[in-house]
Amino acid sequence: MKTLDDLLSEGVAGRRVLLRADLNVPLDGDKITDDGRIRAVLPTLNALREAGARVTVMSHLGRPKGAPDPKYTLAPVAARLGELLGAPVAFGDSGEGDVTLLENLRFNAGETSKDEGERKAFAQELAAHGDVYVDDAFGAVHRKHASVYDVAALLPHYSGYLVAKELEVLSKLTGVGERPYVVVLGGSKVSDKLAVIEALLPKVDKLLIGGGMCFTFLKAQGHEVGKSLLQDEMVDTCKDLLQRGAGKIVLPTDVVTATEISDEAATKTVGIAEIPAGELGLDIGPQSVSEFAGILAGAKTVFWNGPMGVFEKRPFEAGTRGVAEAITKVDGFTVVGGGDSAAAVRALGIPEDGFSHISTGGGASLEFLEGKALPGITALEV
Ligand code: 3PG
Ligand code: MG
Repeated sequence: MKTLDDLLSEGVAGRRVLLRADLNVPLDGDKITDDGRIRAVLPTLNALREAGARVTVMSHLGRPKGAPDPKYTLAPVAARLGELLGAPVAFGDSGEGDVTLLENLRFNAGETSKDEGERKAFAQELAAHGDVYVDDAFGAVHRKHASVYDVAALLPHYSGYLVAKELEVLSKLTGVGERPYVVVLGGSKVSDKLAVIEALLPKVDKLLIGGGMCFTFLKAQGHEVGKSLLQDEMVDTCKDLLQRGAGKIVLPTDVVTATEISDEAATKTVGIAEIPAGELGLDIGPQSVSEFAGILAGAKTVFWNGPMGVFEKRPFEAGTRGVAEAITKVDGFTVVGGGDSAAAVRALGIPEDGFSHISTGGGASLEFLEGKALPGITALEV
């Protein structure tokens, strides 16, 4: 794989660089609530600018349906990118400047099309913006999309600094690193995490499970989970995992429940055998946090993906906060994977330098750890 340093040593002054970034940031209306993904691409962008390149940046935002939708415009991202760069950023197709950001790639159906011809046609349009292609969109490398896969075949292609760093860091989690190796998984669905559990279970010493997905495991253990999130069709799978992962898989022993997900919700903290029939479990409880923290305290390698509860609402943030803080105290190699967990860290005000690495990729980091081929990486390797 050729890297950005290879491109810089070839010389890039006056050349047009087409840069794929993952600027898919969380928005509240037109306010960016976490600009981590924009900041993560600055090293690559600044290196290109300092070397005299003219850069056209492209990204997706959200999941518009292949046609323009003002709700998903990248305009607020262009403004923030300009602030962070301290330089003007032209926006849209007609942009003329040292740095231009194209409008949301997913406004064109060709970007995500399953039809190779449609994708290739769109990739041709994109390739017209550059003499070379740099991919720094780690969060999107698991997508076989025109801007991450097809366009690489049309231009000389290089990995950006972020992609290179993510691959280097995550590779340390797939082999035999320093033990104990503890993985913490949360988030809402077991089905989303099944492949990574299968891949990591043989390698880890402990697998701690929280978040909405823990209720399907608790059900598999024989507990009633009230109105909590439950994937009925996954209960048998969870039973099997609990058997195979005996001694490794650790579930919460208490949870925080309420009848509604709101900032004003009246909460109860109950043992997992006493979840009230009419309530939903929305966070792991304090006893679970201290048990998880105790296990993490001895870890040498940690990977964490997925919040422990509905951290966006104050009554349910303590589990995610407690686990995040426990990870910052680990004397070892610690990686936060994923859009949601990374956003949680920043939203809860936990210092980012408390972790060895915070990945910008949610699905991408999981698929990498699953051992899947990532189309955006494969395309750079040819
Ligand atoms: C992400 O947020 O996980 C990436 O930006 C990819 O977005 P997608 O899941 O909509 O393809
Ligand atoms: Mg995603």
